Amino acid sequence: MKQTFLVALGAIAAISLVVVGFTYDEASKEELRLSADLQYRTRLLADSLIESVEPSFINNSTTTLERLIDRFTDRERVVGLAVFDNKAALVVGSEGLQDEVTRELDVVQTALDSDTPTGEFLTIATSSLYVLAQPLHQGQTIVGAFVAIQDASYINAQTIVIWRTNILRLLVQIIVFAAAVIALLWFVIFRPLRRMTETVKTARAGRAVSLPHPSSPGTFFAPLASEISKMTTSLVHARSAASEEARLRLEKLDTPWTAERLKEFTKAYLKDRPIFVVSNREPYIHTKTKNVIRYSVPPSGVITALSATLEACGGVWLAHGSGNADKETADSEGKLEVPPDDPKYTLKRIWLTAKEIAGYYVGFANEALWPLSIMAHTRPVFNKEHWLDYRRVNGKFAHALLNEIKEISQPIILVQDYHFALLPQMIKNSRPDAQVGFFWHIPWPSAEAFSVCPWRKELLEGMLGADVVGFNTQQFCNNFIDTVGREMESQIDYERFTITREGHQSSIKAFPISVAFSNMAPEGEREVTPSAIFGELGIKTEFVGLGVDRLDYAKGILERFKGIEFFLADNPTYHGRFTFLQIAAPSRESIPRYREHAAAVIAEAERVNKLFGTKTWQPIVFEHRTYSHEELQPLYKSADFCLITSLHDGMNLVAKEFVAARSDNGGVLILSQFAGAARDMGSALIINPYSAEETANAITKALTMPGAEQKKRMKRLRGSVRDYNIYRWAAEFIKAVASQG
Ligand code: F6P
Repeated sequence: MKQTFLVALGAIAAISLVVVGFTYDEASKEELRLSADLQYRTRLLADSLIESVEPSFINNSTTTLERLIDRFTDRERVVGLAVFDNKAALVVGSEGLQDEVTRELDVVQTALDSDTPTGEFLTIATSSLYVLAQPLHQGQTIVGAFVAIQDASYINAQTIVIWRTNILRLLVQIIVFAAAVIALLWFVIFRPLRRMTETVKTARAGRAVSLPHPSSPGTFFAPLASEISKMTTSLVHARSAASEEARLRLEKLDTPWTAERLKEFTKAYLKDRPIFVVSNREPYIHTKTKNVIRYSVPPSGVITALSATLEACGGVWLAHGSGNADKETADSEGKLEVPPDDPKYTLKRIWLTAKEIAGYYVGFANEALWPLSIMAHTRPVFNKEHWLDYRRVNGKFAHALLNEIKEISQPIILVQDYHFALLPQMIKNSRPDAQVGFFWHIPWPSAEAFSVCPWRKELLEGMLGADVVGFNTQQFCNNFIDTVGREMESQIDYERFTITREGHQSSIKAFPISVAFSNMAPEGEREVTPSAIFGELGIKTEFVGLGVDRLDYAKGILERFKGIEFFLADNPTYHGRFTFLQIAAPSRESIPRYREHAAAVIAEAERVNKLFGTKTWQPIVFEHRTYSHEELQPLYKSADFCLITSLHDGMNLVAKEFVAARSDNGGVLILSQFAGAARDMGSALIINPYSAEETANAITKALTMPGAEQKKRMKRLRGSVRDYNIYRWAAEFIKAVASQG
């Protein structure tokens, strides 16, 4: 629309310029013509009168002169007539000829001096006049001057009429022209362009397109349309070939899972039933700084995993809209197509009030449920108000989701994480036909630890509304089943891992979450040099260890730094030759415990740096910001080892991202035994992060590990992530959900 407006504006400016030019010319010519005509008629009048005026003036017959002047003053446009003596003093003048007029007549003196008739246009007071002075003679001598004064204001009036008429015409032209330009642009350019864009978009999204015949005649876009049509045809063919190939691969379960295979799988399995995902955190946050809107991907395992899933299968993702430009970038329903650069599914943002965020997210989810589930020695805080907000927000999401699925029979709903424990039951109560999967991404504590929660029964009932309750490890499933057994009446089948309550059965199953291995790094040589990558951060040492975490007390960063301290104390030969790079993404900063922890981590890094650092070397480089997945890739590829010291973690996808990035089969993974990832990543160096000695020894082992052993371990690790990547996780979870109920 903006372009249409600009084109119309440009055309209007050009027309206006032409019309104004022509009008100026026409008005000037008319002014010249009327002026010449007035001068001519004044001269004729003066010439005809002078014959009678001259003898009367010479004879000093003032009465005759007055009579003569009075008689002719009545004529049309004659303002006045006057006779002056040879000193330019008024002798006789028409009645009513104002003093100011006769006083300002320099023209009389000019005519007397030059002895020629002299005319001049004057504006006196507000009147526009033409004054002609003609010398009077007695023989050869100049005895005075005769003056005729005519009204010239009609000349101005006439030019004003010309301007007014032409400007009116111009306005009419502008309206007609603008309408014509807009209509033409719309029909000739924008509509065909929009159609072409839609065709390409539809083809790219893999939906059926109706292609115009390449040779169909039409607009001047015909050649372009023909090319696009050919390209789209090729795309459609390529897609169906890929899809056929994927379908064939689908049969062979030993081949790796890919986005394409997951897409084909869900198509075949769900028969085009759409998938709905609900999570607290949204996959894209739009923020506005100094009038510029940007989007970012938040640091979260849920986002890493689910984005890849929805990009493959499409669907609708409901999440809290938390960015300051989120409303501006979504439609009136809070919806937008994402990824913003290459849309593949719909994000529906849910708006929460500051009070809801404080109670549901900060208070109940992160100050009660998080420390309750994660054994990191932070006491959970249970507050009734927070619980009520948690319940209310779960209800708000349920309401929004029910609205989305109202037209869909048997929708597939995948609820994510501890923020929405009540949601499965809320959905099932209204829509028993919905197939609901609930995935708890963080650890599930022992039955005893969970029993301190005042609202444990409500939480368990809410979760058991789901057809499938998923956890990252079998241990978490076992803990959950024990908790239900301890807290409520139910039938538990320990062989099939199901819980039946009030006639509804939930299957409790482990689905170890993962990353999109195939997208992360193709096999081959590494294309970055470590020195260049780390040099940008001022790191010049021979060896670099890497830590990538949200700044969360559960990640064991303080313990990690202690381990580094022990390593440096035991290994002076590495002083000045080894750096540990810690990427720490700010997280949950509104919670005091997180702020205290961030300050403690920064102080600890400084302490270790002071202890061992020199003018040219700092053992710990602390990057306190979120790195995008793209920024992390070269760091993963270049580090000598990646150190994960979680005190308790559902899975820890950094471990899998590091391994997936190591297409060179180099580097060592040091992994906490308390991260879910340790279950199937046994080829890492597994440590107890509470033991600084164990961490220090693992660092020494990693830095001295022979290349062949590194390769052997890394190959095994990569094999496990490749085989159980996020596409397989999604397929298994979706299959479990869709086969229930
Ligand atoms: O991946 C584990 C997790 O706890 C998610 O549940 C959560 O989305 C993520 O970490 C980040 O936390 P937050 O969304 O509170 O920033």
